[in-house]
Amino acid sequence: MDFIIRPVKIEDAVFINEIRRQDGVRENIMGITSERVTRSEGFITGLTDNDHMLVAEVEEEGVKRVVGVATLSVNRSNRVRHSASMGIMIKKEYHSMGIGRALMTSLIDIADNWLMLVRIELGVFTDNEKAINLYKSLGFEIEGTRKYAIIRNGKYDDDYLMARYNI
Ligand SMILES: CC(C)(COP(=O)(O)OP(=O)(O)OC[C@H]1O[C@@H](n2cnc3c(N)ncnc32)[C@H](O)[C@@H]1OP(=O)(O)O)[C@@H](O)C(=O)NCCC(=O)NCCS
Repeated sequence: MDFIIRPVKIEDAVFINEIRRQDGVRENIMGITSERVTRSEGFITGLTDNDHMLVAEVEEEGVKRVVGVATLSVNRSNRVRHSASMGIMIKKEYHSMGIGRALMTSLIDIADNWLMLVRIELGVFTDNEKAINLYKSLGFEIEGTRKYAIIRNGKYDDDYLMARYNI
């Protein structure tokens, strides 16, 4: 699968909205079916120099389409500015094709070598095996479980806090 990784553009909002609402993705992120494109536009517009948002773009039959997105947000406050949080999602039809690993690797390169961050953290549902495997393979460790942390399909579900250290 050929794809390029590049910084997000405002025109990507429509693709990002579609992925966030998609069955097979929404359940594992903070998406909800009623989400509007304007939310994604607002998110992109609100990005600051502390936010690094990359997309994966494919070209099929001459049409370019964003099929994955990942964000690294560096903490602002003085005494936690050595750390960042991360999030990622790939369009369902493009899962398990190496796109998630490529996006994560690009953001980790920014974190390690261009910002010299010490800590990256993220939350992941305890049953999200695909994502947990990916994160562990990139050096993330489970730090703990947040019980009843997030509403998902009629339940309060648990997630793991995972982190990766560059020290
Ligand atoms: C989790 C997710 C980001 C992984 O991205 P991806 O592009 O599908 O993953 P990749 O193809 O890059 O694979 C990377 C690793 O993920 C794991 N993985 C991928 N597909 C898997 C599967 N079907 N079963 C188990 N592990 C799997 C493997 O460890 C894989 O490493 P390998 O290639 O050495 O085997 C993607 O599936 C996704 O967006 N899921 C829905 C939203 C989501 O869960 N986001 C994360 C929220 S914390």
